[in-house]
Amino acid sequence: MSAIMQDAAGVAPSAVPVLLAVQGVNKRFGGLQALSDVGISIRRGQIYGLIGPNGAGKTTFFNVITGLYQADSGTFELDGKPYSPSAPHEVARAGIARTFQNIRLFGEMTALENVMVGRHVRTHAGVIGAVLRTPAARNEEAGIRQRAMELLDYVGVSRYADFRARTLSYGDQRRLEIARALATDPVLLALDEPAAGMNATEKVSLRGLLENISRDGRTILLIEHDVKLVMGLCNEVTVLDYGKSIAQGVPADVQKNPAVIDAYLGGGH
Ligand SMILES: Nc1ncnc2c1ncn2[C@@H]1O[C@H](COP(=O)(O)OP(=O)(O)O)[C@@H](O)[C@H]1O
Ligand SMILES: [Mg+2]
Repeated sequence: MSAIMQDAAGVAPSAVPVLLAVQGVNKRFGGLQALSDVGISIRRGQIYGLIGPNGAGKTTFFNVITGLYQADSGTFELDGKPYSPSAPHEVARAGIARTFQNIRLFGEMTALENVMVGRHVRTHAGVIGAVLRTPAARNEEAGIRQRAMELLDYVGVSRYADFRARTLSYGDQRRLEIARALATDPVLLALDEPAAGMNATEKVSLRGLLENISRDGRTILLIEHDVKLVMGLCNEVTVLDYGKSIAQGVPADVQKNPAVIDAYLGGGH
């Protein structure tokens, strides 16, 4: 493997199959073209960064690929098969899970319950069975509880299992959201600004968590403002500005790209 081909994580991107291929996504809100012909190609095992100034369209792109918004146009393939991000539960079944820029936990439920809710997407008895408490559902429930505890431990918040979610610190709520997303056992984990509101120490430990998730075989798509974190973690980056993809490539190149520098420093944002 040549040094040029090898990225930060030691994976040769071109040798690995594409997991998510998105092309030609357009999304308009009234008079605002929030996404213009945006495409992205994420290979298995990558930690892929999506960056850009505020209002660039990053969250909108997440909302499109996770079925919260319908794109006006665009093609989607997951694992080489056509994929239609129609509704959030279908997206979860297809193997994509996400967290939200504005944390969306059930604040009055415990941390453990929040993760268990995420797990129900994957089970046979489902939410209805859980409510009716059929024998099959009860068996499943025990398994779900155990798995949820393991995930709380994995993200580092198991000591708060029985705390109401809203009582956790901001950083811990973001970790809890990651645990809930992992509960669906996703192939692709999409994180919308997971480090927002974290201090430097919390960011270092978040980085370790994301590296573990990646090492455990999941592909990660990361929206992040902290350039240092993105450059250190990601092996490929797409930069959005005013809804357009203005640069794509390995972090070291993207960082030097004049259009990117202009978007961040001179673009009047
Ligand atoms: N539901 C919506 N309705 C109208 N405008 C929206 C909506 N969601 C996002 N926008 C607009 O689309 C643009 C991109 O927003 P967003 O995707 O949140 O940017 P980013 O996540 O990069 O900061 C912004 O101008 C925002 O105001
Ligand atoms: Mg956003």
